[in-house]
Amino acid sequence: MTRSCVSPRMNKITLAVLAVLILALGGGLALTTRRLSQAEARLAALEQRSPEPFHLGLGEVMGYQQRWVDKVGLAAQAGNWAAAAFYADELKETADDIVAANVTRENQDISALVKSALAPAIDGLNDAIARKSPAIFATRYANLVGACNACHGAAKVPFIHITSSDEARARWNQIFAPATIEK
Ligand code: HEC
Repeated sequence: MTRSCVSPRMNKITLAVLAVLILALGGGLALTTRRLSQAEARLAALEQRSPEPFHLGLGEVMGYQQRWVDKVGLAAQAGNWAAAAFYADELKETADDIVAANVTRENQDISALVKSALAPAIDGLNDAIARKSPAIFATRYANLVGACNACHGAAKVPFIHITSSDEARARWNQIFAPATIEK
């Protein structure tokens, strides 16, 4: 039989130490919880402060549009309709972002122009891709590039002259010669 050799005095000390430990733990926990809720509040405030669908300027977003137009043309030429559909979707998403962002520039409602001229041209391209028709695609593609350039003319940036990838035969689907865009 074993006998406990802990004296009543020792028991009291142990209890006191335990009580202090529990109090310290509780205090720490309360502090952590407070810090957590502070961090949560800060996150919520940050989220509220960024309602715009994108954080790039119009020029940068246009750079993406140029890239998607280039790639959708090359994909269709290669008969890769799945890739063409992917890039046409990117074009549409970016156009939707511009519409949602209510962009105005030099008193022109860029978002309204994108909605009325560019979005339908992209829809037309999507239809040609769904039909996997190179002939319909060629017409709709020319139409789309025309919509890009028509707005560049109207928006006072006629020197940004987009073309089809094969016409440029260069790194960029863009004509850099200082010619006026035909409307
Ligand atoms: C509704 C008008 C509008 C439409 C439609 C439009 N653009 Fe633009 N684009 C602009 C404006 C305005 C700028 C100048 C932006 C700036 O001030 O930075 C621009 C600039 C650009 C630039 C210069 C940025 C760079 O990276 O070189 C490119 C390229 C471009 N657009 C490509 C396109 C393509 C491709 C399309 C068609 C899919 C298109 N844009 C459709 C208005 C338009």
